[in-house]
Amino acid sequence: MSRSAHPAGPRHADVLPEGHYTAPPTDLNALDPKVWAQTVTRTPDGVVTVGGMEVTKLAEEFGTPAYFIDETDFRARARAWRTAFGHDADVFYAGKAFLSRAVVRWLHEEGLNLDVCSGGELSTALSAGMPADRIAFHGNNKSTDEITKAIESGVGRIVLDSFQEIVRVAHIAESLGKRQRVQIRVTVGVEAHTHEFIATAHEDQKFGIALADGQAAEAVRRALALDGLELVGIHSHIGSQIFDMAGFEVAARRVVKLLAEVRDEHGVELPEIDLGGGLGIAYTSEDDPREPHEIAKALSEIVTRECEAARLGTPRISVEPGRAIVGPTAFTLYEVGTIKPLDGLRTYVSVDGGMSDNIRTALYDAEYSVALVSRVSDAEPMLARVVGKHCESGDIVVRDAFLPADLAPGDLIAVPATGAYCRSMASNYNHALRPPVVAVRDGEARTIVRRETEEDLLRLDVG
Ligand code: LLP
Repeated sequence: MSRSAHPAGPRHADVLPEGHYTAPPTDLNALDPKVWAQTVTRTPDGVVTVGGMEVTKLAEEFGTPAYFIDETDFRARARAWRTAFGHDADVFYAGKAFLSRAVVRWLHEEGLNLDVCSGGELSTALSAGMPADRIAFHGNNKSTDEITKAIESGVGRIVLDSFQEIVRVAHIAESLGKRQRVQIRVTVGVEAHTHEFIATAHEDQKFGIALADGQAAEAVRRALALDGLELVGIHSHIGSQIFDMAGFEVAARRVVKLLAEVRDEHGVELPEIDLGGGLGIAYTSEDDPREPHEIAKALSEIVTRECEAARLGTPRISVEPGRAIVGPTAFTLYEVGTIKPLDGLRTYVSVDGGMSDNIRTALYDAEYSVALVSRVSDAEPMLARVVGKHCESGDIVVRDAFLPADLAPGDLIAVPATGAYCRSMASNYNHALRPPVVAVRDGEARTIVRRETEEDLLRLDVG
């Protein structure tokens, strides 16, 4: 990832950008199954389809920009995680990646649990019928209202993130006459190899209680002493978009070590450990993500081995994948509006969305792929930068990608792997209207989150 170049381009900085791009692909019309949702394919006449529906028809019916989510793929990925972890472990889908009531229903039907991190996510989950005892509630600064609502609705666990929260949750539970199942989130001191903003297990950041200096042991001591809390386990989340399993292994080892210390000090074997989410997905053909069964095998082996060595019973493991389930299942469909070639440098391709529907490129230097999807082309590849329609030059969707040189206004292009952290981080910047999410399955498409309208914007603006 380059931080040295000004995102607006080399003409705005005193350095040349590092080349993110590799050589042009041999076939610009090919759709790499690594980055596209499972049912995405091209018809013989060149139009891309998802769930059996042509993107040209989808654009006519639902407009652009729009996110299209392949329900078959979502369910298959959810099921793959569930199956890989089996009956002795739990999979909590991380709702922050993307949550809607339809998604909650799919998760429920596929046997997954749900991790929420705000009152809004909790309401969405409950209103779509997710049983409260299958919900985990997260957050480093949950409000009193959120905690109260979580306890009253009977959530399966609250993950305690700070010393203050241990007392706060205990107090609210007691005042409601309840005993709340909780885990304590610890930071294990692992440097996950990912972008700084999405790494969460080193100590110099806001989440969790450090294992270092006996802080986590002290948190356990306090939680065990409070009547309003039933401490059931330890939680660790090391970061996001991680490909290397080593960080998870170190985290698991350190969490098990804490469990052994708790057993030695209190004579209590905590029955659960949660190893968080964070597994990376392929945004471009260069990425090489692990499969759920490999992850499940690696995690359960390390936990079992460490527990045996510490003479502990094996705790029930849970994980919280968000991106790895929903990320690859969706793409964003845009219409090309203007095209600006800069000789010898690149061609700017402006689409009808931008940083309001995908902030990840601007925020994390994220890399994406892109393809012309309304037709095939045998034109030469051109180095393109796909940009949005917002009033800033950092409004980049795909920094460097090859598109056919005959690309023209009116063509449809699609950016794959936008299922996670795109709609959920979308904004109304420049009063953009957030795009709809349309679920496609077996030749049918239905809106699961509708497009915002100007009335929606004006309804909030009370004058
Ligand atoms: N569990 C906890 C406690 C988390 O904080 C997160 C993500 C997850 C699970 C799910 O992580 P995943 O499997 O989706 O990587 N907006 C950033 C990602 C922020 C992730 C925050 N926490 C992005 O677009 O990359």
